[in-house]
Amino acid sequence: MKTIFPQLAASVRSAVDPFLAMDVMVAAEARAQEGKQVLHMEVGEPGHQAPQIVREAAKAAIDHDRISYTPALGLLSLRERISAHYQETYGAEVSREQIAITTGSSAGFILSFLSAFDIGARVGLAAPGYPAYRNVLKALGLVAVSIPVKAENRYVITADDLQAVHDLEPLDGVLIASPANPSGTMLLPDAFAGLIECCARNQIRFISDEIYHGIVYEGTARTALSHSSQSIIINSFSKYYCMTGWRIGWMVLPEDLVRPVERLAQSLYISAPYISQIAAVKAFDAVGELDAICLQYAANRAKLLKALPAIGFEGMHPADGAFYIYADAGRFTNDALGFSKSLLDNTGVAATPGVDFDPDHGQTMMRFSFAGDATTIDKAIDAMGRWLG
Ligand SMILES: Cc1ncc(COP(=O)(O)O)c(C=O)c1O
Repeated sequence: MKTIFPQLAASVRSAVDPFLAMDVMVAAEARAQEGKQVLHMEVGEPGHQAPQIVREAAKAAIDHDRISYTPALGLLSLRERISAHYQETYGAEVSREQIAITTGSSAGFILSFLSAFDIGARVGLAAPGYPAYRNVLKALGLVAVSIPVKAENRYVITADDLQAVHDLEPLDGVLIASPANPSGTMLLPDAFAGLIECCARNQIRFISDEIYHGIVYEGTARTALSHSSQSIIINSFSKYYCMTGWRIGWMVLPEDLVRPVERLAQSLYISAPYISQIAAVKAFDAVGELDAICLQYAANRAKLLKALPAIGFEGMHPADGAFYIYADAGRFTNDALGFSKSLLDNTGVAATPGVDFDPDHGQTMMRFSFAGDATTIDKAIDAMGRWLG
């Protein structure tokens, strides 16, 4: 006889908001299954596969290596290669001992939040910003503190914004991304230095999500390490290196957090996938192939910056980097979620509603990813123009 339990509730901590970009992707897939056209602009995912030398290294590992666990902080060969990357790219001194290999930057968020903060800690985030930050913080019993940013301020948190929020009720940490998602904007060097200086003065942990480094159209992406070696850096092979499904990323940690992160990683996921680690070592040697892909993003960006205003989208800041345009669709809607559904139904264009990035003020906003191919962008512009024009 089987025992029947009474209905048990899911945890309160699991009641985080859905990640709407992923929900739109599922709806788009359902439409594609019906044989209808889908133009993907919802998920921030390169249309290209990983570079050739990366794939060759993975194939060789499958044929010749034992696919094993690795130390929780990752293979020494990859940690060494990342350390050299900091010297080559930023002229920054980063020892291999400070580097932790993670299962994508997504694991870096969990590890940084768990290692740096206790339950109830308050972490400042730009609104709009990447939705997983606030969802993960909430699930871990931390408080996500929204700091509103605006198009006219390049969608970045300023040192004054941060100080004002901290003065109202103290913050324990702040997380920024530059280039940012969904706006693609970057902190200018002085603003970056000012923000970190403000954090140091107020004993606020600074976490820098540098996942979009390498994909830059205007200016230069700076690592927070250029301003302070005490910052926590989170990065990934998902975007510039076109390795989303390989689930591999890294962190650069201040010395005091290396062992805590190692202990947590040992128990949370043991190690990042061996094959992905072996392959990722080669990613740094594929710059020619990867930069050519960035040129395609640049061409897509230029097309959209011209076409979206002509269709009627407004208030966008030209992305400095990443592959998104965050545009005001206020002429068409004040219900971004409903608009994204109608857009998909009527045009096949899958795009992400602004409420994913800013639940309080994103009701008229839409995010368009231009990481796909030129044909997708052309067809999407044409279809939206006909439907909205
Ligand atoms: C700003 C930002 N950080 C992190 C991630 C997650 O990336 P990963 O594949 O490295 O977990 C994304 C994905 O879209 C992102 O936009």
